[in-house]
Amino acid sequence: MTILITGGAGFIGANFVLDWLASSDEPVVNLDLLTYAGNLENLASLAGDPRHVFAQGDICDRAFVDSLFARHHPRAVVHFAAESHVDRSIHGPADFVRTNIEGTFTLLEAARAYWSGLAASARLDFRFLHVSTDEVYGSLGADDAPFSETTPYTPNSPYSASKAASDHLVRAWHHTYGLPVLTTNCSNNYGGYQFPEKLIPLVINNVLGGKPLPIYGDGKNVRDWLYVGDHCAAIREVLARGRVGETYNIGGWNEKTNLEIVHAICNLLDELAPNPQRPRSLDLITYVKDRPGHDRRYAIDARKIEHELGWRPSETFETGIRKTVAWYLAHQEWVGHILSGEYKQWIEKQYENQD
Ligand code: NAD
Ligand code: DAU
Repeated sequence: MTILITGGAGFIGANFVLDWLASSDEPVVNLDLLTYAGNLENLASLAGDPRHVFAQGDICDRAFVDSLFARHHPRAVVHFAAESHVDRSIHGPADFVRTNIEGTFTLLEAARAYWSGLAASARLDFRFLHVSTDEVYGSLGADDAPFSETTPYTPNSPYSASKAASDHLVRAWHHTYGLPVLTTNCSNNYGGYQFPEKLIPLVINNVLGGKPLPIYGDGKNVRDWLYVGDHCAAIREVLARGRVGETYNIGGWNEKTNLEIVHAICNLLDELAPNPQRPRSLDLITYVKDRPGHDRRYAIDARKIEHELGWRPSETFETGIRKTVAWYLAHQEWVGHILSGEYKQWIEKQYENQD
């Protein structure tokens, strides 16, 4: 038995692979292109472990994907690979359309061809789990009910539109061809190995470097935050026991404004890494131009996965953010390696001339 993971060198994918192999001996084939967001250092602890087979390649490359199915005979696909950063999708949507839509299409077609050729019992057991986002549901007002699995799709960014398109393809491959799919729509993740372009690691990094903490708009946009280990546990449950063709929302029951998040990080860093040479963390907060089309609020109704599969997050925000800040403090070398030329260029492009 083997599972095929895509995007397993990225933030959530790497956490998933590490958690999976910590609790199971079922091997993982990890297909990842190693874009700027993919980092094999995330998986360094698996060096020499025969249960982890890394395959560098593109999910848009049908021949390569076919060859992986033929060689490894996976019983399931867990599809994480994507372009994932909203701000990058605003600067350059083409990669998002290519990887998130065309890549998911290619993977679905390769999976369908492979699955069609399986013996009857293996066909029944096969699963294609598509990892998606709450952003496909659009933006909520302050008093709106949280997103449920039946909330209509109204994506607002090139990123969320491309993920929405991929969700629709996955749904169609089930209804039209019978491919046994599952889709998860999760809220904002945080934890170790997150690329420091995203809010939480960016703020940790900037506080430690004494740099401004860029807050888009008024800082009152709301996100639901989930510790990455809880997301990985939810995906394992859906893969094991989710009903074929269903979608499951995954969230932390933990809505916070961006300013609340930044304050929590500043306070933790003042406690865990005090440094009188640094400016006071909260003084670094700097309001900058808002993200175009910035969704105001996301919130997740995660009752379906709780009722059907018994999953609930095990971390509170307080325990999860403390672990996360401690992880970044303990992995400054990892951060240092990421602060490459490409990352510096991104920061200059995104934040230069911001008022
Ligand atoms: P990430 O950007 O950290 O990692 C993406 C990974 O995909 C990288 O390893 C990258 O090299 C790989 N990749 C990109 N294009 C590829 C291609 N064409 N072929 C093969 N590999 C490719 O992303 P993440 O934050 O870990 O998100 C993983 C998935 O979870 C995404 O599908 C994202 O939409 C979804 N998601 C993320 C969050 C979040 O808060 N980060 C929340 C909900 C859902
Ligand atoms: O909701 C799930 C989504 O969460 C995932 O699908 C995406 O892949 C993931 O990147 C994340 O999207 P967000 O846009 O919510 O995450 P980000 O960390 O980029 O931003 C979080 C909030 O913080 C958002 O309201 C924008 C704001 N922000 C972000 C950055 C990078 C700032 O105010 N300043 C910043 O510098």
